[in-house]
Amino acid sequence: MAATPVLTGELVVLRPIGPQDAEHMWQMVAEDPEGARMTGTTQTFAREQIDEWCATVEEREGRHDWAITHGSDEYLGEIVLNEIDDHAASANLRLALRPGQRGRGFGGEAIELVLDHAFAEAPEGLGLHRVSLDVLSINPRARMLYESLGFVEEGRLREAHRDGEFWCDVILMGVLEDDHRAARAEQAAHRARDAEAARAAEAERRARRGDDR
Ligand SMILES: CC(C)(COP(=O)(O)OP(=O)(O)OC[C@H]1O[C@@H](n2cnc3c(N)ncnc32)[C@H](O)[C@@H]1OP(=O)(O)O)[C@@H](O)C(=O)NCCC(=O)NCCS
Repeated sequence: MAATPVLTGELVVLRPIGPQDAEHMWQMVAEDPEGARMTGTTQTFAREQIDEWCATVEEREGRHDWAITHGSDEYLGEIVLNEIDDHAASANLRLALRPGQRGRGFGGEAIELVLDHAFAEAPEGLGLHRVSLDVLSINPRARMLYESLGFVEEGRLREAHRDGEFWCDVILMGVLEDDHRAARAEQAAHRARDAEAARAAEAERRARRGDDR
């Protein structure tokens, strides 16, 4: 399997996870009850397991694990493509950020970078056709984010997950390479419209300033 590449965006840089990330990954795993709840994680880990995982994950087959970084090399969270199936050209996606790093646009850009890589033709990209994930119904932030990036709800496992005293649904979502291309084109059009509106507002402001003189 090809090495996990570094993917660079405007906000974040994604780089392969390595042994240096064990301390921050451990903090996220051990001290983040909201993250554990939102990801439906019930398993507990020992520190040695995290050390071992970070030291060996780069060599594991059928997956790419990236640390999400911003402005320095520090691990702020992770994004993973796993269950990579070369025959079906499909994979599963999951991600999580450390508590103080959420809501800053990092997750959205990380997903865009990974999907661009997943759907790009091999050998530069992975040449995939489909990426899927599941999200809990108690996690509207993640669901809305996925929808905004082209993921479509494909099914719902009703009351399949236990959230404390209650049950919640597991929502199955997927994005095909054409969905991704369409979402990217829509984003580009949106950005162009925003830039045009900003230019028009600036021109009007300048014209008004000229009138005032
Ligand atoms: C889910 C997660 C990865 C998203 O990453 P993030 O960096 O926080 O997300 P972003 O800042 O890129 O974008 C979040 C979007 O959701 C929106 N949002 C925030 N809270 C929301 C809410 N309660 N309901 C709906 N939308 C919400 C934001 O407005 C933003 O949209 P915008 O880009 O149009 O403004 C991150 O919040 C996280 O790690 N959460 C805990 C773990 C988790 O839930 N993992 C996913 C499991 S499926």
